[in-house]
Amino acid sequence: MEKLQTTYLGLKLRNPLIAGSCGLTNSISNIRELEKKGVGAIVIKSLFEEQIHLEAEKVIKNDIGGVSLFNRAPDTILSKRIYDYDEAYSYIYDFAKRNTLAKYLSFLAEAKESVEIPVIASINCVSNQDWHSFAKKIEETGVDAIELNIYILPSDWRRSGEDNEKIYYDIIQEVRNYVNLPIAVKIGFYFSSLAQSVKSLSECGIKGLVLFNRPYNTDINIDKIELSHGPIYSTPEEFTHTLRWISILSGNIGCDLSASTGVHDHKSFIKQLLAGATTVQIASALYKEGFEVIPEILDGTTAWMKKHNFGTVDSFRGNLSKSKLENPAAIERVQFMKLYSGIE
Ligand SMILES: Cc1cc2nc3c(=O)[nH]c(=O)nc-3n(C[C@H](O)[C@H](O)[C@H](O)COP(=O)(O)O)c2cc1C
Repeated sequence: MEKLQTTYLGLKLRNPLIAGSCGLTNSISNIRELEKKGVGAIVIKSLFEEQIHLEAEKVIKNDIGGVSLFNRAPDTILSKRIYDYDEAYSYIYDFAKRNTLAKYLSFLAEAKESVEIPVIASINCVSNQDWHSFAKKIEETGVDAIELNIYILPSDWRRSGEDNEKIYYDIIQEVRNYVNLPIAVKIGFYFSSLAQSVKSLSECGIKGLVLFNRPYNTDINIDKIELSHGPIYSTPEEFTHTLRWISILSGNIGCDLSASTGVHDHKSFIKQLLAGATTVQIASALYKEGFEVIPEILDGTTAWMKKHNFGTVDSFRGNLSKSKLENPAAIERVQFMKLYSGIE
């Protein structure tokens, strides 16, 4: 397995396969098992700032005795001091925040103690203030790096692309001002000029970019005639979108690239490395195939490397990157025309 050694975010990994942030990286027994099965690093389930808001809302709605805070006589509400909604909310919010953050921090410290492989924390915040204050506290737990899970759906037509992108830079700058941990930024693909945005993000002091978070997918239930959610887990066919962008971007970018979405077996894992990914993250495959998918990917890759005489991952990483092409879009268009014009 030494052949698979990789450096990601400045950390030494025994191989480039990472258990991505998801519900399965939220328990110590799973984290131990993931290490045993062979992953190179683990990204812990994100701490979502909105989760704290939800906790606070829950407490406010179902406070003492299950009766809403706002249906009580004022003098029975926790105290008269928090009679007013805003005051009550901020009191309970602060409590929920301290509580949720403390639980996450102690989980990180325990996770770090439990395994030898690098442990990467993950946060998803709303306010600038919390991004850096959470990150600072996370650094103190001893984890190896932090992934900023910045998810912006540019659906507000009053905001320009520049307005939305400024949020990414502001968050990164804020966190960098307060922590020395290696920072990776996980993004979606909704940028008006993806290649340019990824390049400039990669040059603002972060060590890695994770491409891409899989967006929440909307669906419609035609029996109930209401909105519902689309599939939670990716399918193996979804790897091509990330593959395209890793291939176009690798070699032109000022930081590591970690491929995420649609990797379910050793074949798509190898493809992402050939396209130029530094590491590859899996989440849905862990749910759908179980943790046995880890040795399948690692053994399949080692056997493929042997067959093709590659002694190390570096000897083939990026060999099929499009970064060397002057205009990948034009080449893609030619291929598209060749392929689709022949189908009747
Ligand atoms: C059930 C579930 C929970 C997830 N939770 C998180 C999370 O807390 N933070 C995060 O950054 N990504 C989260 N993800 C996204 C995954 O890390 C990953 O980026 C995405 O699912 C695409 O990769 P995949 O095709 O290997 O699943 C979650 C995914 C799933 C399926």
